[in-house]
Amino acid sequence: MARRILVLDGHPDPDPRRFCHALADAYASGAVSAGHEVRRVDLSGLEFPDLIRRDDWEAASAPAAILGVQADIAWAQHLVIIHPLWLGFMPARLKALFEQTFRPGFAFGQRERTLGDGRLKGRTARIIVTMGMPAAIYRGFYFAHALTALRRNILSFVGIGPTRTTIVGNVEGISDVQCEQWLDRIAELGRRAI
Ligand SMILES: Cc1cc2nc3c(=O)[nH]c(=O)nc-3n(C[C@H](O)[C@H](O)[C@H](O)COP(=O)(O)O)c2cc1C
Repeated sequence: MARRILVLDGHPDPDPRRFCHALADAYASGAVSAGHEVRRVDLSGLEFPDLIRRDDWEAASAPAAILGVQADIAWAQHLVIIHPLWLGFMPARLKALFEQTFRPGFAFGQRERTLGDGRLKGRTARIIVTMGMPAAIYRGFYFAHALTALRRNILSFVGIGPTRTTIVGNVEGISDVQCEQWLDRIAELGRRAI
């Protein structure tokens, strides 16, 4: 069955050599080839301020670029979030996007902000994260904590789940063959819309 998929390319650097962009393209084209509907949000092309004041977070209006992202999330049945690991977490600019987007009135009620009150229920997600270290070290030694934080503290909190994860480790100096293998795997996930 065709699904509505939002691919969020969460790499802040517009340089086309960044592997995250190729992974986002692979997922999107795999999904389209299987008849799914796809929208894209490319963080590197979005203009919005960092959220500084609580009053701005609780204000009725959000910056124009953020209203567009909210509309795309509201439309989607499945979110695919792709980002590099920077100093152990998602890039600050991606966190800024979540802070701006998941605000009261859109992601949860104005008052009650407890787990289970998220307004974005009914959507599934996949996180794809690239990193320099081997995936086994990230899972075994660091307990994949940035993935857990995104999955539980952000997505789950607003009602999105279940969330699957893919770790693309050892990405620095990856060979062309390994690149192609990853792109094939990610395109297959897109075809299956998972
Ligand atoms: C600012 C910065 C911080 C980074 N921090 C980490 C890190 O904490 N752990 C890690 O394994 N790799 C780290 N890396 C390596 C990146 O994760 C890696 O270069 C990236 O995932 C490659 O994907 P890209 O081509 O899409 O940028 C860092 C790279 C940069 C530029």
